[in-house]
Amino acid sequence: MDGLLTVEGGTPLTGEIVVRGAKNFVSKAMVAALLGETPSHLSNVPVIRDVDVVADLLRLHGVTVDHDRDDGVLHLDPSDVESAHVADIDAYAGSSRIPILFCGPLLHRLGEAFIPDLGGCRIGDRPINYHLDILRNFGAVVDKGSQGIQLSAPRGLVGTRIELPYPSVGATEQTLLTAVRATGLTELVGAAIEPEITDLIAVLQKMGAIISVDTDRTIRIEGVDRLVGYRHTSLADRIEAGSWASAALATRGDVVVRGASQPEMMTFLNTFRKVGGEFDVRDDGIRFWHRGGELRPIVLETDVHPGFMTDWQQPLVVALTQATGLSIVHETVYENRFGFTDALRGMGAKIQIYRECLGGLSCRFGRRNFFHSAVVSGPTPLHAADIEVPDLRGGFSHLIAALAAEGTSRVRGISIINRGYENFLGKLEALSAKASMGALV
Ligand code: EPU
Repeated sequence: MDGLLTVEGGTPLTGEIVVRGAKNFVSKAMVAALLGETPSHLSNVPVIRDVDVVADLLRLHGVTVDHDRDDGVLHLDPSDVESAHVADIDAYAGSSRIPILFCGPLLHRLGEAFIPDLGGCRIGDRPINYHLDILRNFGAVVDKGSQGIQLSAPRGLVGTRIELPYPSVGATEQTLLTAVRATGLTELVGAAIEPEITDLIAVLQKMGAIISVDTDRTIRIEGVDRLVGYRHTSLADRIEAGSWASAALATRGDVVVRGASQPEMMTFLNTFRKVGGEFDVRDDGIRFWHRGGELRPIVLETDVHPGFMTDWQQPLVVALTQATGLSIVHETVYENRFGFTDALRGMGAKIQIYRECLGGLSCRFGRRNFFHSAVVSGPTPLHAADIEVPDLRGGFSHLIAALAAEGTSRVRGISIINRGYENFLGKLEALSAKASMGALV
């Protein structure tokens, strides 16, 4: 689905949409199915490109994948796992970062793994050094070639002690997916504890794993000999829910996000309220709306869970351009996540970005050459523009800006948004947005 999206802005988003399972959990649970000796069933699966990419990669490795797209159910049968051809895997180079998480399970199942150059969003270097160090710690041999990385485990994988320099989500998942079948004990110090990771631990426990999480971010895993398939329903996508909430605020709208869940969104909800947004937690989801009058500026710092997610930052910044006064946003997870503000400035927003750590404690990007703090001055009327979608969350933010702006914007590259936002054109329609797809000219 690529083409030109024409957005006539200036109309509040109003109506009801449904958010299904979390992209950043579903893709990992799909990889976990590789570890089972029997089939797995995953429910509440969204139809997004990242799910399709992981499904294709699993099929290349001999897993039978049936995806009922309407019901949102995935059936994954890993009985015949086999090595895939390097050229076939390489065709996926650049389309997702998930292949790195195939390593542990494939090393257990086949004794070898290959991963292509990794994709993901252009939001910094996004290295994989933690992942490779972890796999080496377990005893894997890692060979970097021109096309990708070849791994083997000639003596099997053995439990180990890992201390993460930063509570990385992916590195924590890498450790979990490798340790559950490794011989003996693994201790992971400084782990990430995002709700999507807790849900992954729940899945692994259903499969037969023994995993405990301490209050100090230490996770202990006792390796087991065999794991079976699981039956699980994914937690809701809290990033998508927060994105639509910010869209409601920026357009002075009123949006019910069915499926949104409060416990995983508490930090977002606090911030949303401080800015001046209203919400109502219902049995079937959360209603978000602009209560009229002025929005308030805030000082905000992104952080690992339970802090304010980096992925909520970009959509909220668009709403902050409509707040009265100066907001300060300090991004501490990625070094380069303010690139999307260039386009907002082009639409009339007043946003300055700085190398210094502003508004909070100093972070690991301070005193280095990274523009990782922003000052947003509002309110500024936004005007329409021609927009090229840069990355998933930045792209969604541009879309929100176009919806809030006066005039007609033209947005190119929207297929990137489909990586993580299910049926977002259908949802725009359900919210009475004036947006339509046309051919590229
Ligand atoms: N990092 C390293 N070395 C590594 C791995 C990470 O230096 O080997 C650094 C990263 O560069 C970054 C920080 O550690 O500065 C945190 O990265 P993390 O590993 O936590 O991120 P990730 O696992 O690659 C997942 C989500 C991201 C989300 C982050 C943080 C998936 C597929 N992606 O990425 O989601 O922003 O956690 O919560 O789960 C998105 O959905 O748009 C998205 C980018």
